[in-house]
Amino acid sequence: MSGQLEGKLALVTGGSRGIGRAVVESFAAEGAEVAFTYRSGSDEAKEIVSSIAVSGGKAHAIKADIADEKQILSLFNQVDELGQLDILVNNAGVILEKSLVETTAEEFDWLMNINLRGLFLCGREGLRRMAGNGGRVINITSDLSFVGREEFSVYCASKGAINALTKSWAREFAPNVLVNAIAPGPIDTDMLDLEHMSPEWQKKEKELTVLKRIGKPQEASSVAVFLAGPGGSYITGQIIGPNGGSVMP
Ligand SMILES: NC(=O)c1ccc[n+]([C@@H]2O[C@H](COP(=O)([O-])OP(=O)(O)OC[C@H]3O[C@@H](n4cnc5c(N)ncnc54)[C@H](O)[C@@H]3O)[C@@H](O)[C@H]2O)c1
Repeated sequence: MSGQLEGKLALVTGGSRGIGRAVVESFAAEGAEVAFTYRSGSDEAKEIVSSIAVSGGKAHAIKADIADEKQILSLFNQVDELGQLDILVNNAGVILEKSLVETTAEEFDWLMNINLRGLFLCGREGLRRMAGNGGRVINITSDLSFVGREEFSVYCASKGAINALTKSWAREFAPNVLVNAIAPGPIDTDMLDLEHMSPEWQKKEKELTVLKRIGKPQEASSVAVFLAGPGGSYITGQIIGPNGGSVMP
């Protein structure tokens, strides 16, 4: 396989579905060898690995819960066996739709453990490895990190903190490692599923975009390819929004 990421080794957290899956598939299509994590979807993970292999690419599915530091350390040790890490996409995340007054401390901790602490730990391990060699880190934040949203305050707070980590890491690891974030608007994934989100929210979300539609996962992964590839060589500390115009920060 040849492409703009040929010869690169990438790790994508939460890569078995949604935006993460689209990133894994587009990176592989651009020639990268891609390791990705999954939590429970082992069938989907195996299917992704084999369909990438059929197209002549290389992918590796690794089971890991990013709320657990030991599992993260083991994940990065497994990635070390594949070679020098070049690209890290911190994509895994969860959402919570709940009024502030009903939100428990346990729910706050659950969300922050995954979205913020997990991303911090993966970023730390990835940047330890890339600091002397160069690389790219791409954190997945959200358009809601700029504007906030009623009944999503804990989620918005986790993403706002990710923006701050992104800018700080970009400064700390320049010029060797470029660190950026992608802040999608509404994208058609399980995260927008009725299980998590109210139908009212979904309707409103579409209307809030200038393009009046929900995006596709590939419309977010194309930005990750750009940031990871040669076209992103002068971009660091930025938060780029495939969001259909939902916010214009
Ligand atoms: N879909 C949207 O509209 C949208 C908008 C803005 C930002 N995002 C962000 O995009 C990212 C991907 O979300 P998505 O829309 O593809 O939703 P999704 O629910 O399909 O994917 C989330 C991924 O995170 C993984 N994950 C969750 N908790 C984990 C844990 N403890 N350990 C390891 N993996 C875990 C899941 O297994 C899954 O692969 C998230 O960070 C989300 O906040 C999504």
